[in-house]
Amino acid sequence: MCLTISLLASILSSMTLRFEALAWGDDGHEVVGYIAQAFLTSGAASFVSEYLDSSYDGQLGPAATWADSVKYEKAYEWSQPYHFVDAMDSPLSGSCSVEETRDCDSEGCILTAIANYTTRVTDTSLSKTQRDEALKFLTHFLGDVTQPLHCENYEVGGNDISVTFNGASDNLHSVWDTGMIELNLKANYDDSVADYADALVQRIQSGDLQSQASGWIACVNPTEKLDSRATISPLECPIEWARDANAYDCSYVFQYTKGSDLATTSYYTGAIPIIDVQLAKGGYRLAAWLNTLFDGSSGLPSK
Ligand SMILES: *[C@@H]1O[C@H](CO)[C@@H](O)[C@H](O)[C@H]1NC(C)=O
Ligand SMILES: [Zn+2]
Repeated sequence: MCLTISLLASILSSMTLRFEALAWGDDGHEVVGYIAQAFLTSGAASFVSEYLDSSYDGQLGPAATWADSVKYEKAYEWSQPYHFVDAMDSPLSGSCSVEETRDCDSEGCILTAIANYTTRVTDTSLSKTQRDEALKFLTHFLGDVTQPLHCENYEVGGNDISVTFNGASDNLHSVWDTGMIELNLKANYDDSVADYADALVQRIQSGDLQSQASGWIACVNPTEKLDSRATISPLECPIEWARDANAYDCSYVFQYTKGSDLATTSYYTGAIPIIDVQLAKGGYRLAAWLNTLFDGSSGLPSK
């Protein structure tokens, strides 16, 4: 009996680890949602309060993890490829790139998903439930697209690279999704996602991130076409965001000392500012995107 329970527990926990290894973990997504919420203008805020599933109490933070919570259910398995784009570049040789026609196949990817749910969230012919889902997908995917390893094919986005983190074996993808964020939350934010999000909002409004924030939303037009030859996804901004995240695969993500513990070396301390900025970008862009869709402009300082 005991054996069965502990066996079951260990199977369940290894499944959880496996699942967590496939997306900014819950913490990162919630941070993105909370940041976005702080920058919504009136029409977007009204849409969120009216259309978001009432169990989330009008908050994008808790709603941001919904897309991960359903993707292993039979009914939503089709959404699994929407969480990333498999950039077939060569980050170890310093060559980073995302090309829609090369990297996004007929199953779809995060680029087509953002385009699809951008159209659907404003489509008044859809039901309230369908538009709620579109909002939850957008809230999630505008987060995932800022995770460098969600915009990388090499070693399954780092999932197949074993590393040591905080004394335990892990993989590089999961360290970026979850491990480093959890350590940072415990060390600096009393393990509170809301405190971390508040701190990033402050830094965007009046701190060290203020001067760069307008650059994060340089592309914010939800109808701007990528180019007339791109047949897969019609939008310009998602590919720009993916390229921005993917560039870190060349400049930082794979540059660690083999065999070292990534939590106790300069790899961790150097990654935290990147993670801060990527989560901040995700939240700020999500607000700008929804504001543009529901209020006609980003409502945020632009260059
Ligand atoms: C768009 O979203 C709907 C609803 O989730 C889905 O059924 C459809 O397959 C999606 N289309 C594309 C091209 O991603
Ligand atoms: Zn995801």
